[in-house]
Amino acid sequence: MDALGIIQTKRDGGTLSKEQIDWFIENFSGSELIPDEQAAALAMSIFFNGMEPEELAHWTKAMVNSGVTLDLSGVGKKTVDKHSTGGVGDKVSLILVPLIASCGLAVPQLSGRGLGHSGGTLDKMESIPGWTASLSEEKMLTQLSEIGGIIAAANENINPADRRLYALRDVTHTVDSIPLIASSIMSKKIAEGTEALVLDVKTGLGAFMVDFEQARTLAKTMVELGENSGVKTTALITSMETVLGNNVGNALEVSESLDVLEGRGPKDLIEVTLALAQEMLDLSNVDLDPGEVLASGKPREVFEKMVSAQGGDLSKDLPIAEYKKTIKASSTGYLSKLGCRSVGVAAWRLGAGRTKKEDSVSPTAGIICMAKPGAYINAGEPVLELHSDTEKSFDSAIDALEGAIEISDTAPDDSPLILDKISL
Ligand code: URA
Repeated sequence: MDALGIIQTKRDGGTLSKEQIDWFIENFSGSELIPDEQAAALAMSIFFNGMEPEELAHWTKAMVNSGVTLDLSGVGKKTVDKHSTGGVGDKVSLILVPLIASCGLAVPQLSGRGLGHSGGTLDKMESIPGWTASLSEEKMLTQLSEIGGIIAAANENINPADRRLYALRDVTHTVDSIPLIASSIMSKKIAEGTEALVLDVKTGLGAFMVDFEQARTLAKTMVELGENSGVKTTALITSMETVLGNNVGNALEVSESLDVLEGRGPKDLIEVTLALAQEMLDLSNVDLDPGEVLASGKPREVFEKMVSAQGGDLSKDLPIAEYKKTIKASSTGYLSKLGCRSVGVAAWRLGAGRTKKEDSVSPTAGIICMAKPGAYINAGEPVLELHSDTEKSFDSAIDALEGAIEISDTAPDDSPLILDKISL
């Protein structure tokens, strides 16, 4: 067996055998026998020719087996997790993990840092004074048993194949391939050891999958991979046409999550969170109303416990940016568009996101949407409030917002947030 033959099979539109897949992943993730250029050539061949369902299932299994898998059987509770394909202002995990933990389930959310215009959950949590993302496996299991929720960095030994392949895909423009995304996400979630999983597949201008049908195909592919591996999996397709909630940026998103946990917060964020929570409870056969549980205040207490267990202190103020700038409405009327991707890119340019994996992020930078699509605003009223610690970052952020705001005489249609549900 050699890499050239495997690349040729896929390049010419063939199907990789189980032996070819096992050989490739084993020799790519361990001894690094297979060089980057050959792995990149295979990724590009998969990008163009796709994968058959059985081939993809085996590829995903081989990725899981490239590293350790967690055993959560000792936690003493049913386990259920959520994964989002990423969006602007998507801070749902910060509310959902303590909410589901409050229902008696354990949520083992192992997460990554953000790259590009959509923020990472760990970056958000790290804006809480003292909070640390790294947890030993032993501490993770204890926290899951005692508190019911963790948000933590994935163990380095989980899925080394994905870590190396994802870095290569990032620099070879092979990220946006359905089989490669589906296997990357699902192999990490399967290795995490959760019994059930709800996927939030975002679609719309601010999402990976701009096209709804593409989002459905990705969701269906991931649900099948999960179910084939014994993980009960459901996906919701949710809209990412505009920012979720009002705040974008690390500490700003923690602050908005606390608002929701304390009975306030924006309607759209609450709606998406409760819809995902309901799916998680249904998969775990728990008969509770997530809205009532949220209103009880218990999830706020659980969040505090989760944060304290990882060194964080919610009694200390969240950091605040040194400089602020307001973008005002240029005319009077209905806000008919607030470009999601542009707001994400602007927040990233203010310092909220990173370009390279090694970059650090600003805890304070970001944007508050003072108005959301559908709102009636007068000329001169604020639409966006930009936050940054570096004054010079405002110019490039404002450039990114060119054409992002539209005001018209008629109110935009009220489009639904939850677009579809995919389950087997
Ligand atoms: N997130 C992942 O973990 N993998 C992908 O391929 C895309 C998004």
